[in-house]
Amino acid sequence: MGARGPRSVRITGWGRYVPERILTNADLEKLVDTSDEWIVSRTGIRERRMAAPHETTATLAAIAGKRAIAVAGLEPDDIDLILVGTLTPDYWMPATAVLVKEAIGNTRAVAFDVMAACSGFVYAYATADAFIRSGVYRNVLVIGAELLTRFLDFSDRNTCILFGDGAGAIVVSASDEEGGGLRGMELTTDPDGAYMIWLPSGGSKSPPSHETISRGEHFVRMEGRETYRFATRTLATSALKAIERAGWKLEDVDLLIPHQANVRIIESVSKGLGLPMSKMFVNVDRYGNTSAASVGIALAEAVDSGRVKIGDKIVFVAFGAGFTSGAAAVEWTADPVNGHRADSVVPEASVRAPLDWDSVDPIPERLRALLASREGPQVPLDDVVPGEPEPVHRGAPA
Ligand SMILES: CC(C)(COP(=O)(O)OP(=O)(O)OC[C@H]1O[C@@H](n2cnc3c(N)ncnc32)[C@H](O)[C@@H]1OP(=O)(O)O)[C@@H](O)C(=O)NCCC(=O)NCCS
Repeated sequence: MGARGPRSVRITGWGRYVPERILTNADLEKLVDTSDEWIVSRTGIRERRMAAPHETTATLAAIAGKRAIAVAGLEPDDIDLILVGTLTPDYWMPATAVLVKEAIGNTRAVAFDVMAACSGFVYAYATADAFIRSGVYRNVLVIGAELLTRFLDFSDRNTCILFGDGAGAIVVSASDEEGGGLRGMELTTDPDGAYMIWLPSGGSKSPPSHETISRGEHFVRMEGRETYRFATRTLATSALKAIERAGWKLEDVDLLIPHQANVRIIESVSKGLGLPMSKMFVNVDRYGNTSAASVGIALAEAVDSGRVKIGDKIVFVAFGAGFTSGAAAVEWTADPVNGHRADSVVPEASVRAPLDWDSVDPIPERLRALLASREGPQVPLDDVVPGEPEPVHRGAPA
């Protein structure tokens, strides 16, 4: 443990992983009373990813994490602290970060989860920054990872159309160079929103039982309109606060990377801030809302697709259950070309299972039936790597 803080704290690596299987709006039309037209016009979402049975939040997190470490030019054992932002952990305990530590081959890090719902990635980034700035750690792996398709009621059209699975990661490191990295931060927590997005049972207030399950209380619930109102207001105010703390003006911002919940929310923030949509990063059409993974996936995709260059002023901003919100104003310092180093990481991760326990099939019943009814060959459970040709099966087994 060192005592002296570094000159700056910088993002040195980034990575993402999304499961291969695509769940389209047409698929959801078969499960609930909805339509592609409704989902696209109200949310901008066209498809989302769904994890395979052998995948868990920890395996998604480990692949994204290994990619971020490779991009940073580090070895797994260079990481001092692993933080996983998630609201869909593998287990109630141990923390998912513990499983990720073993899966990435790290032997020395401290590892714990950060629970701030969809703001989890930004909260974890803030935690990493504080640990490094205070001189306690030098290299922190921050991951946002979610496997939401296992916590959704696929008979509830209010929620099941919105969410998807995936993971995004960054490596945050101490630097001896002045400037760059995190310049301004704003985090908020507003308990008025405590029951606007929540998962009622499984905790101490309502332990799991046949009754809680028969009532469907183990699934995500949401008040869409209230959440929408909070989101549009808070994303803008939190982003502005972080920008102000950085000493920047709004027009200095090169790219805003918002939580990907709904394209209408992003458009309204763009309008509210007076920042054109060309400066807002959007990929919600392809992944839906991946909660704590969303900003991490979007950042990695933005850098790898050439939207970010050294010296750019970028802002991450997220909101989520709680209500929570978090914004970070970051001066980008890493060479985007390093993103290619992630190609050497195979999209597989193995998380050790307990010896004397066999879990039940994790796929929700309605999804299992839908997948079984699909025609065409079963796709290999592979990954989409940036720069690779489109998978040949894409869209085929409708
Ligand atoms: C959920 C959300 C897309 C709903 O959009 P909306 O424009 O507010 O729609 P409303 O809730 O007003 O519903 C309008 C109608 O569509 C219906 N509807 C709801 N979901 C539907 C679906 N999937 N398909 C078709 N119709 C649907 C409603 O029942 C309602 O019908 P009614 O007028 O007969 O009562 C929107 O409120 C939203 O994005 N909220 C924020 C959610 C969010 O970001 N959550 C994650 C936070 S991290």
